[in-house]
Amino acid sequence: MNINKICCIGAGYVGGPTMAVIAQQCPHIKITVVDVNAKRIAAWNDTDLSKLPVFEPGLDEVVKEARNKNLYFSTNIDQAIDEADMIFISVNTPTKTYGKGKGMAADLKYIELCARQIAKVAKQDKIIVEKSTLPVRTASAIKNILDNTGNGVQFQILSNPEFLAEGTAVQDLLNPDRVLIGGDTTKEGQEAIQALVSIYAHWVPKERILTTNVWSSELSKLTANAFLAQRVSSINAMSAICEQSGADVNEVAKAIGMDSRIGSKFLKASVGFGGSCFQKDILNLAYIAKTYGLKEVANYWEQVILINNYQKNRFSDNIVSTLYNTVSGKKIAFLGWAFKKDTNDTRESAAIQVADNLLSEQAHISVYDPKVSEERMYADLDYLNTRSEEENRNLLTVDQDPYEACKGAHAIAVLTEWDEFKAYDWQRIYDSMQKPAFVFDGRGILDTEALKKIGFNCYTIGKGS
Ligand code: UDX
Ligand code: ADP
Repeated sequence: MNINKICCIGAGYVGGPTMAVIAQQCPHIKITVVDVNAKRIAAWNDTDLSKLPVFEPGLDEVVKEARNKNLYFSTNIDQAIDEADMIFISVNTPTKTYGKGKGMAADLKYIELCARQIAKVAKQDKIIVEKSTLPVRTASAIKNILDNTGNGVQFQILSNPEFLAEGTAVQDLLNPDRVLIGGDTTKEGQEAIQALVSIYAHWVPKERILTTNVWSSELSKLTANAFLAQRVSSINAMSAICEQSGADVNEVAKAIGMDSRIGSKFLKASVGFGGSCFQKDILNLAYIAKTYGLKEVANYWEQVILINNYQKNRFSDNIVSTLYNTVSGKKIAFLGWAFKKDTNDTRESAAIQVADNLLSEQAHISVYDPKVSEERMYADLDYLNTRSEEENRNLLTVDQDPYEACKGAHAIAVLTEWDEFKAYDWQRIYDSMQKPAFVFDGRGILDTEALKKIGFNCYTIGKGS
C-alpha cells in the first residue's frame, strides 16, 4: 500500500514536531496537520518562526524547509480526513477530572470525538494510527466506533507510540532508539504495518523498527514511561538520604551508573519530574492494574508518584525552614518554570507545586523563564484553585529579566535546568539581594563552591553537609 497523503489530528507537542520531521524526510508525501484550535494553527502558519506554538531546538528549521511544500497546517479537519490515506491521532489524553477513574484514568473523550469524525467523513479505506499515549485496548474502542458508525469503509488501526522527549524532539525523531508499530495479526493488519514501516524506513534503519501486536505496543509506551519515572523517583528518594547522611547524590549516581546493568541515564536528582507523560501514564497504568483487580501492582506504581509529590513538597518545606521558618512577605525568585529545559511546556512542572506551597505561606514570588509566557504561568496556578486569580497575580509576578527577578529577593530557587542560568553574573545578583542571600538549586546545575565564595548560602538537592 502506497501512502501519498497523511492527515494528523492534533497540532500539539507530539503532532507538530512529528509531522514536521516526517514531511522533511518524505517530500513525496503531503501532510496536513489539523486542529480545532484555530489560534494554534495560525501560530504554526506564522511567517515569524519564533512564534511557533511549540518551542523545540531545531524545529523552526525543519518547519521552514517543509511548510507549504508538503507540510500544511489547517483547521479544515473534514477535508484533510477525506483526502488522507493514513490518519494520525495526536490529540491530548489528559487524566480524567470527573466521574469513574477521576484523577487516574485517561480521559478518552477527544480520541472518541476524532474517531466519530473520521467515521462520518471517510469515504475510502484508511489506516488510523494512534500516536497519543493510550491505555491498553483503546485501539479496539476506536475500531468499534469506526466500524459501527462509518460508511462501510475498512479501517486498520495501528499503534505507533511516540517516544520523543520534549526539548530534544527533533533529534529524537531523526535518530530514534526504536520506532514501535503495533497492528493486527491479520493479512490486512500486516499490510497496514508495512505501509507505516516504509514511511519510517526513509530515514530510520530497518533493525530499529520494531513491529508487535497492538496491545504490546500500547502497553510498551506506558511501561517505558513508568520505568523512566521510577528511576527519577528512586534517585530522588536517595537524595533525601544523601542530605541527611552527608553523601552527595551526584557521586552516588555516578558510582551506580557505571554499573552497566544499571546504566547512567535518568539518574539526575531533581526537585521532581514533570511533563505531560510520566504522572499521567503511571496513573493510567495503576488504574488499568486496579481494573484487573491487581491492587498490589497498582500500589507499587503509585508509589513512584507519591515520592515525586514528596520531593516537590520537601523542596518548598526546606526553603521555608531555612528562611527561619517564615517566608511571609519575603521575595523569592524562581529561575525557571518549564518542566525541563529547552521547552516552553509547563504541564505538571514541579515549579507549579513549589510555587503554590510557598504562596500559601504568603511568600512573594517573582519568576523568570526564558520561554514560558506569563499567561501560561498564571493559568497553571489558577488551575489549582488554591486561591483567587487576583491573589495569584498579587503574590506572583513575572519578569522578563532574570536580574530584575532576583533583585531584593531573600532567596533564589532554581526549578528548571536552563543552561543560561549557569552563565549569569552571580556577583551582580548577590549584590542586589537581601542578606543573608540563599540559593536553593533544585536541579543541581550551579557551581555551589563559586557561589559560596561570593557569600551565598547554598542548598543543592541531594547534597549533604
Ligand atoms: C518522556 C519520555 O522520556 C518520552 O520518551 C515520552 O515520549 C514522553 O515522556 P518528556 O516528558 O518530554 O519525555 O521528558 P523527560 O526528558 O523524560 O523528562 C521528564 C521529567 O523528568 C522532567 O521533568 C525532567 O526534568 C525529569 N528528569 C529526567 C529528572 O528529574 N531527572 C532525570 O535524570 C531525568
Ligand atoms: P500532546 O503533548 O499530546 O501533543 P497537546 O495538548 O500539545 O498534547 O496537543 C493536542 C492537540 O490536539 C491540541 O492542540 C488540541 O486542540 C487538539 N485536539 C484535541 N481534540 C481534537 C479534535 N477532536 N480535533 C482536532 N484537534 C483536537
